[in-house]
Amino acid sequence: MKIDLLITNASQLATPDPTATDGPNPTLVTIQNGAVAVSGENIVAVGKTKDVLNRMTIQESTRTIDASNKTILPGFVDCHTHPVFSATREQEFALRIQGKTYQEIARAGGGIRSSVRDLRNVSKEKLIQTVLPRLDRFLELGTTTIEAKSGYGLSLKDEIKSLEVIRELNDLHPIDLIPTFLGAHEVPDEYRNQRDVYIDIIVKEMIPRVAQDNLALFCDVFCEEGVFSIAEARRILTAAKDADLIPKIHADQLSPSGGAQLAAEVGAVSAEHLEFISHEGIRALAEKNITAVLLPGASFFLRMEKDPPAKEMMEQRVPLALATDFNPGSCPCPSMPLMITLAGLRLGLLPETSLVAATWGGAKAIATETTRGTLRAGARADLVVWNTPNFQQIPYYFGVNLVDSVVKNGSIVFQREPTRFSSVSTKYHPHPKNKLQENQ
Ligand code: NIG
Ligand code: FE
Repeated sequence: MKIDLLITNASQLATPDPTATDGPNPTLVTIQNGAVAVSGENIVAVGKTKDVLNRMTIQESTRTIDASNKTILPGFVDCHTHPVFSATREQEFALRIQGKTYQEIARAGGGIRSSVRDLRNVSKEKLIQTVLPRLDRFLELGTTTIEAKSGYGLSLKDEIKSLEVIRELNDLHPIDLIPTFLGAHEVPDEYRNQRDVYIDIIVKEMIPRVAQDNLALFCDVFCEEGVFSIAEARRILTAAKDADLIPKIHADQLSPSGGAQLAAEVGAVSAEHLEFISHEGIRALAEKNITAVLLPGASFFLRMEKDPPAKEMMEQRVPLALATDFNPGSCPCPSMPLMITLAGLRLGLLPETSLVAATWGGAKAIATETTRGTLRAGARADLVVWNTPNFQQIPYYFGVNLVDSVVKNGSIVFQREPTRFSSVSTKYHPHPKNKLQENQ
């Protein structure tokens, strides 16, 4: 077999247990002195370096990475993002610091609707150029797949434009973008007094067109007090299912609405946010094996006091995923390592649990857990080498990007240049700046 890439000698390799068959949240397996062999776009061997080297022959064309003192993990699968927007909304951050809530800002004309007004004035080409550098930021932080929602167009034309942006970005960037139609993100300005007309447009025009043009795999609804009610969300998700789009729900984020139970009723693949989920909601997700997508970056950035009951979900055997919710309002942060830190501090999840939720869990929330988010022979070669001796240091050093290299579909797509000053300390010469100071 032709081995294209061989990564060896990792002080630690960690992966959700690829052999686990029993239970919703696999444990994290660690291997010391680990190695991964890649052929083409797939992993062909994972194990201890000596075992992998015994089984695989290095050829002249094989690229090698020595991962001594480093850690190998699967690439993150960030299963909930809203990356297709134009202008940023940093003024809302300042308003929240001054005490305004997310809902107050939205009612005053900010929030999602301001992003909609803005995106409608931007061409598809301009949007592509705006979103591309955002994808670089995800990749540099170890994310190799994102689920990407539309939802800042809210008209047939602008929702299609957003989904086409996602489709074209897939060809322009190594990151895989898995598309979700979110025409039900908000009721746009022009239908504020005729919400039923807008829901009709979603059901009768947008969903059929999205399905016919194969522009999305999933359909999501922001089911929330003042946005879309349970009855409205049910109508939209039922129509989506009839058109072969898989339902997802923004549920119980800002108030308890019973969104989790609706997820179970319509057979959603995931229910997302869930700060206000009830005990019945947790039981409903567990019974139907629906993934709970936890988004601690959003509750942190919105200064919410309430967090989802993640430990109760674990105990009740609800599959957990962890994601960023990257968007211009409630979480402009693409960092999965920071989400693992926040999941620890706010949700009480240990780094090993969060790491599984950020890889295997994310893959499950987009129905791809057999090929993504895990290191095993046959899976896609999406993996990240970290400049840490173990995975525990990744969330511990919060705010620091410790990614060394990123491999996507078998190709090295990112490699960090180390800052050199520390490694020349034995022959240290004062930096010119210090010399200047000495002379002053
Ligand atoms: O997931 N909850 C709804 N949507 C986003 C926020 C979008 C925005 O503020 O632009 C979220 O938090
Ligand atoms: Fe969201």
